[in-house]
Amino acid sequence: TDQPTTRDGFAEPFLLEVLASGGLDAAYVRAEGNTLYRRGEDGEEIAVLDFVGGYGSLMLGHNNPEINDRARELLDRQTPVHAQFSRHPYADELAAELNRIVQRERGDDESYYAIFANSGAEAVEAAMKHAELDRGLRLSALTEEIDAHLEEVRALVADGTATVPPRVAGSADELIADVRRRNEEQLARGPLFLTPEGAFHGKLAGSVQLTHNPGYRLPFKSLAAQARFVPRDQPGALRKIVDEERPHLLDLVVEGGRVQVVERDHPLFTAFVLEPVQGEGGIHELSAEFVAEVQEVCAEARIPVVVDEIQSGMGRTGSFLAATRLGLKGDYYTLAKSLGGGIAKSAVLLVRKPLYHGQFELAHSSTFAKDAISCLIGLKVLEIMEADGGAVYRRAAERGERLLGMLRSVRADFPETVRDVRGRGLMLGLEFRDQSDATADPLRQVARSGFFGYFVAGHILREHRVRVFPTSSAVNTLRFEPSVYVTDEEIDRLEAALRDVCAIIRDTDGARLAPI
Ligand code: F0G
Repeated sequence: TDQPTTRDGFAEPFLLEVLASGGLDAAYVRAEGNTLYRRGEDGEEIAVLDFVGGYGSLMLGHNNPEINDRARELLDRQTPVHAQFSRHPYADELAAELNRIVQRERGDDESYYAIFANSGAEAVEAAMKHAELDRGLRLSALTEEIDAHLEEVRALVADGTATVPPRVAGSADELIADVRRRNEEQLARGPLFLTPEGAFHGKLAGSVQLTHNPGYRLPFKSLAAQARFVPRDQPGALRKIVDEERPHLLDLVVEGGRVQVVERDHPLFTAFVLEPVQGEGGIHELSAEFVAEVQEVCAEARIPVVVDEIQSGMGRTGSFLAATRLGLKGDYYTLAKSLGGGIAKSAVLLVRKPLYHGQFELAHSSTFAKDAISCLIGLKVLEIMEADGGAVYRRAAERGERLLGMLRSVRADFPETVRDVRGRGLMLGLEFRDQSDATADPLRQVARSGFFGYFVAGHILREHRVRVFPTSSAVNTLRFEPSVYVTDEEIDRLEAALRDVCAIIRDTDGARLAPI
């Protein structure tokens, strides 16, 4: 049973037991840069080098001094934090700055309206809802047009201007009733989202439907619209799915006095939602071919593209948006994580102006979203990133190359242990080979537990005081997302830890990975 004991308290005790079983249940008392501190038995601080980086929320490090100063200043000034339904120049300024940066990276002058939210998953849900609002409006316009055509046909046949060819139907009324029945059947089909296999877009009732991991998604399948998951490495797969699912509504036209049945495209797909570099699913950058197919098919079928930059954005891959390098252009963008500078909970949805519906601002809002502190911290984050002509982005690329070079050298020395290293900028992964069939019992058991990367992380934490985690839907892949200030010495410490783990996997029975 998964009934937890309450030995450690009432706040998610089950998760804590899981962490404890892997030796990962440290309590941290202070944090700075890439370092977390826990207390030793004598009360002294023990430093732990952090390569998790808040799952990507700490591009600028823990307790960045400039950001903390700004936060203190805002509090000292008694900045109104919650003043809903008032003018919000801080939010306008942040949205304007985001527009400027996004336009620079896209190399065009598309404008985006901003909807603020509290978490990444909420920004994704806002995108899903906005796109569905838009689909609903397009669909109503289409069904109204069809209804008008049906009534026109009825009138034209009644006054003898048009006839229903016998091979089409017995009478106009029968034909119209038939068209209506077929359309109602079609319209009863719920909307569908498209997203790549391996996607992660959050764990709320809507966004979890776009999260590939069945363990997260399936228990909540009945709560919201479903996604079709598209293979990332099969050219033509997306087109096939869209063609397979693409339904039609029937319409009537009169040509040369004869009533004809024609098919109209039914906008069934609400949106294609994708991460330029998949994070939680195992660090996979999308290929240029896949991106090109997404853009082409979505443009043809009028499916809006939602680029989820919650993890890959905010400079992490060496540009503000990871989509920039891939030439991927979105109708919507989501940002969160590092937008809050490591202290605020903040997210934003950007919606391309021609698609935007003002009524959405009332349809989606929250007590906490768009608060002054989060927006002003977000502005500070952008100021730091944009300073010196984008030194932070260049540094993310340079540090990323250095870190990737180290990971490649480990792979080269342990080819039987490390399957792959990959990623971009400071969003990198190291995938271990699957050990489920290892001859040594302990190693095989660790691999078959479904928590392989967590056991590796536990060992690295205990023995090296370095904090790493696997991507949670692909537990053989460790993910590295340190801040842009990561030093050579910190990379060297990670290297020593990884080499130790690789040697244990290669040369021992792996018992040291599972000490319990
Ligand atoms: N989208 C992406 C691409 C994410 O990586 C995440 C979170 C979310 C949405 C949801 O954001 O947690 O603020 O609600 N990813 C984390 C991970 C948790 O493990 O990669 P949230």
